[in-house]
Amino acid sequence: MKCRIDKSKCKIFLRFGKMPIANGFLKKNQFKKEYFFELNVGFNKKLSLFQLEKNPSPKKMFNENYPFYTASSKFMVSHFEKFSLWVKKYFSNNKKFKILEIGSNDGTFLKNFKKNYHVGIEPSKSVHKDAIKNNVNSENKFFNYKTIKKYIKKKIKFDIIVGSNVICHIPDQNALINNILKILRNNGLFVFEEPYLGSMYEKVSYDQIYDEHIYMFSATSIKKIYEKYGMKLIDAIPQKTHGGSMRYIVKNNINSKISKRLKKILFNEKLKNIDNFKGCIKFKKEVEKSKKRLREKILSIKSKKQKICGYGATSKSTTILNYCNINFKHIDCIFDTTPFKIGRYSPGTHIPILNHKLFKKKNYKNVFLFAWNHKQEIMKKEKKLKNINWFSHLN
Ligand code: TMP
Repeated sequence: MKCRIDKSKCKIFLRFGKMPIANGFLKKNQFKKEYFFELNVGFNKKLSLFQLEKNPSPKKMFNENYPFYTASSKFMVSHFEKFSLWVKKYFSNNKKFKILEIGSNDGTFLKNFKKNYHVGIEPSKSVHKDAIKNNVNSENKFFNYKTIKKYIKKKIKFDIIVGSNVICHIPDQNALINNILKILRNNGLFVFEEPYLGSMYEKVSYDQIYDEHIYMFSATSIKKIYEKYGMKLIDAIPQKTHGGSMRYIVKNNINSKISKRLKKILFNEKLKNIDNFKGCIKFKKEVEKSKKRLREKILSIKSKKQKICGYGATSKSTTILNYCNINFKHIDCIFDTTPFKIGRYSPGTHIPILNHKLFKKKNYKNVFLFAWNHKQEIMKKEKKLKNINWFSHLN
């Protein structure tokens, strides 16, 4: 397979088999027409790039029904507030900075910048509508040349372009970077946060791999990619979001200095084989072990005639359930807070999604925590419930 960013080779090392759209929660009458694709993962040595072989078309994934709302997690709302303070501090000498966010979702981040010239670009209609309700200047579009043309014509340059959990969703990174360079001023910042390859390796959280995450970046890969475009990765800041993410700070000036923290992270990536193929092979073995362990755990609970439910119908759970062949025969239902998901079924494995309000009443004793990245927030909410066997594929 080919590297998606340059023409060098990329070697497939992990095959998950047939997968549906991770966020494709469906109605019963849609079961027969469900779309599946082969989820294969490869690694490109030259750019240290971890990527999917194929992905469904973005229109299949980010349509009017896209059910991910940033504001559904208090932790995420607070995270974006802190992130906005970080941006404001960086621009303390230029309070009138112009900001654009790629994939601005329901406006949770941008609503902190109402006094600034701000633009949000969001392709999913459902979340875009919420951004408008939040009084955020949101455009219901994909971030591409057609969308930014009006800014180029008006000679508007942004001081900072931001993206959170979206850059790894974009298949054509070359087009993305070329478009960014057209509207980012010299010395301007491109700052983005994405699930971090190093955290995924450490936790063996292979459920980070699904159709939307076309790339799983590391600091080494970002450094190499952006240097090709005359931009410099100047800093990287680890984040707790999404089970371990990295904030990358890329400056539109190749001659910029890099931080001590980034130097350490790059060194650590070498040490832990995050920048090379050895890390991939180790990870693959761990993933296979994790599958075996999880199946044994589920089958053992079922052999005692006990019931299991899920908590949090996450997009990530689609990879675990389909890869481990766990379905509605093993798990009765998944409780979730998202109105769009409630009453539907999980992609590929057809487990009913129920309103989280029913969780207490139903009294399940074995609970698969699919939303493990929100564990603290969830345990705080459910702390009154005793004697529950909470588990996930991570333990
Ligand atoms: P995410 O891992 O992609 O952020 O998805 C989290 C999912 O978990 C989302 O469908 C909402 C759901 N959820 C709950 O049901 N209860 C909660 O307390 C939280 C934080 C999330």
